Amino acid sequence: MVNLVDIFLGNQEPQNAKRAIADLKAQGGAAPESLRAAHKRALKDLDGPDSILAAYLADGGDEVRIGLGNESRHTYTGGITGGGKTRSLLNTLQRRFRTAITGAGIDAEILDPKGETYIEMKLCIAAEWLAADEETRPSIPALVYVIDWTDRKITPVDPLDTSDDAISPAYAAELHTRITIQTSDQTYTESLRQLLFMWDLLLIDLGYPDLYPFTQKLFKNATYRSSVLQRVKNADVRLYFSSMEHTVARSTVDAFLRRKWGLYLFPEYRYATCVPPRDLVRLGLPKNPRWTLANFGTTNAQPASLGHARFRWHAVRRLLSVMRRDPRRPLWFVLEELLLLLEGSPEIEEILGTSLRVTRSAGVSLKLISQKLIPDLPRRVVENILLNTHIWSIFGTRPDEAELLYPNVLRDPADHRSEGERKRAFLAEMQSLPRQHFYLFAKGHPAMRCRTPNIVHPTVTTGRSQEELLEIFDREIASSSMITFDHAARLIGEWEREVVGQDQIVERVARPQESAAPNNLDQLRKILGGGKP
Ligand SMILES: Nc1ncnc2c1ncn2[C@@H]1O[C@H](COP(=O)(O)OP(=O)(O)OP(=O)(O)O)[C@@H](O)[C@H]1O
Ligand SMILES: [Mg+2]
Repeated sequence: MVNLVDIFLGNQEPQNAKRAIADLKAQGGAAPESLRAAHKRALKDLDGPDSILAAYLADGGDEVRIGLGNESRHTYTGGITGGGKTRSLLNTLQRRFRTAITGAGIDAEILDPKGETYIEMKLCIAAEWLAADEETRPSIPALVYVIDWTDRKITPVDPLDTSDDAISPAYAAELHTRITIQTSDQTYTESLRQLLFMWDLLLIDLGYPDLYPFTQKLFKNATYRSSVLQRVKNADVRLYFSSMEHTVARSTVDAFLRRKWGLYLFPEYRYATCVPPRDLVRLGLPKNPRWTLANFGTTNAQPASLGHARFRWHAVRRLLSVMRRDPRRPLWFVLEELLLLLEGSPEIEEILGTSLRVTRSAGVSLKLISQKLIPDLPRRVVENILLNTHIWSIFGTRPDEAELLYPNVLRDPADHRSEGERKRAFLAEMQSLPRQHFYLFAKGHPAMRCRTPNIVHPTVTTGRSQEELLEIFDREIASSSMITFDHAARLIGEWEREVVGQDQIVERVARPQESAAPNNLDQLRKILGGGKP
């Protein structure tokens, strides 16, 4: 096996580049007599059953068709903002969705921490719904599961669900605690961290939602605490909470409550994450959906850190679970804005690295999208991503990232420039690639400069406005995954009455406009400004 990493990373010696080219030639078959012949060979190999048009060669305009087999391997898409990464992804996803409607094709999970790709996917799917005939149309809502949190409706989820046994309660609590701390802009002492961890374990053990009134009563009322603890199976958790008056400082408990209250204040977050797990089963939300669109983007009504925490946690949980799926139907696991998942988290880097190595056997293709990998990620993480992705699409990019690609660009035999000149010219070219232009590199072939097909926006293909399409999506497709604030509040209220007791109930259904109410934020600031543990 060629040591590609040595070649791609940091080694600018010409002999390495030469060796890379020689190796790539060896992998691709006979040494290409010309660039054109090498590219033709690559196009032939990339094509295959169920292929779709992915791009055109910039030189000559030949169609680049990628067969489902090649497309269903791990891929990395990188390059500057506005280069065309998301549109390129949408091009393939929309075409694959069309096949999925017929009952064939791939499954997909598209995780978006910013909400932009999510909205574009909503528009694409609404357009497909409008274009579908009467017979196929009803199958579309059942195909799509939406995870979203708006100011009126949310998808209720149980963040601490470990029922699929993909992860032990202790590991779930540990990872969830880490992610909460990593994505928070507040400080956490070691004892506060431990309390957070034990709290997650308690909730998992009891199957309870993370509801502030319950939390508060459990900490403030020793009699109530001991009655709840009787129901806890995990002896360590029982011991910790039953002796907490002697082992956990009051200031730690106060800091814990302040942080929980800080989260609880945001209705979108509360309703999305606090519907009691027992009710989730009863709601009859789609089971084993084939296409999941998950939006963790935040609006001005809530801090971005809440969305990042949910994005990270959901991505990690799913990465740890997908190994258990039936590998016969390919699953594309799309991660937009990869840096938001990985940055500052060695555990998630490790989980992604392992997933890149092992999920292929479960039929999973990880599709990683990021403006850049270096200098933000540690070298070994970049190595892992590059080694374990089969196809790279690199749009305009900085010289350090372009250097990773350079050894895979074949020299035209008619090009008599020196190695140094060629490389400088390539790095300059990569810095000024026009929108939609990118280099496509499939391992075993030379990198080829390509252009993405022009996408016609769904508003143009349908003649409907963006608002109309979003309204169609929300009404016809998202409604089977989401419930209203009122519905969530009712379920939460019933649970509170039953478990927390009449005297603790504060049942007041938040109206949509409350989510942005400055009072909430002022109150939050006051509470959070109340000192450190
Ligand atoms: N294939 C395409 N067809 C039509 N328009 C395109 C295409 N690619 C890019 N564009 C135009 O360029 C804009 C930016 O493209 P896109 O959102 O795909 O960039 P990006 O690389 O994902 O950027 P970011 O890193 O900021 O997410 C689009 O809004 C669209 O107007
Ligand atoms: Mg994008």
